[in-house]
Amino acid sequence: MNLGVLISGRGSNLRALIDACADENFPARIAVVISNRKDASGLSYAREAGIDTLVIEHTDFDSRADFDNALHVGLTDYGVELVCLAGFMRLLDPEFVSRWHNRMINIHPSLLPSYRGLKTHERALEDGVRFTGCTVHYVRPEMDSGPIIIQAVVPVLDDDTAATLGRRVLGYEHQIYVEAVRLIASKQIRPSGARVTGKDLDL
Ligand code: GRF
Repeated sequence: MNLGVLISGRGSNLRALIDACADENFPARIAVVISNRKDASGLSYAREAGIDTLVIEHTDFDSRADFDNALHVGLTDYGVELVCLAGFMRLLDPEFVSRWHNRMINIHPSLLPSYRGLKTHERALEDGVRFTGCTVHYVRPEMDSGPIIIQAVVPVLDDDTAATLGRRVLGYEHQIYVEAVRLIASKQIRPSGARVTGKDLDL
């Protein structure tokens, strides 16, 4: 299955997908990495791995629709079958989301539907929750919503800061993103909502 990975920054989830795809038995490959920022440091992981990259900066377009259209053209030019949002910091228009309905997934650093949006770890610490985690889900027009594919539950420790908690969660993000892609590419999961739990995954 051909993947298109969309990033805006660091790209550690992209790197996890690149590493997974390096195994010839993994059922997906990355056809293109697209960033909406030319200075996204994650682009270097793609370049080092010899993967084509496109920089499509939203500031170069008059409207969100034009920007989304350029993204769509980039993805279809590369024969992308599954779009993986990996720290892509632009809201996508409902029309773009519907064009990629059930063919676009996202990774989010919380146990959705809790803590949609930004600063998830800060808010979890403020609330004093004992567990948080991360979620891979199909993308729907409303931000950080859509059928859940996989979640990992991560404990919050007494002396955690947003940084230490964020690092712990990120380690699980890398695992569940790879696992979600593997399940979709090997047709073991459908968007109709079959849930995968940690027990099934042996995480
Ligand atoms: C991750 O925490 C992801 O869950 C969120 O944005 C962050 C991206 O990190 N959507 P990276 O660029 O993959 O390192």
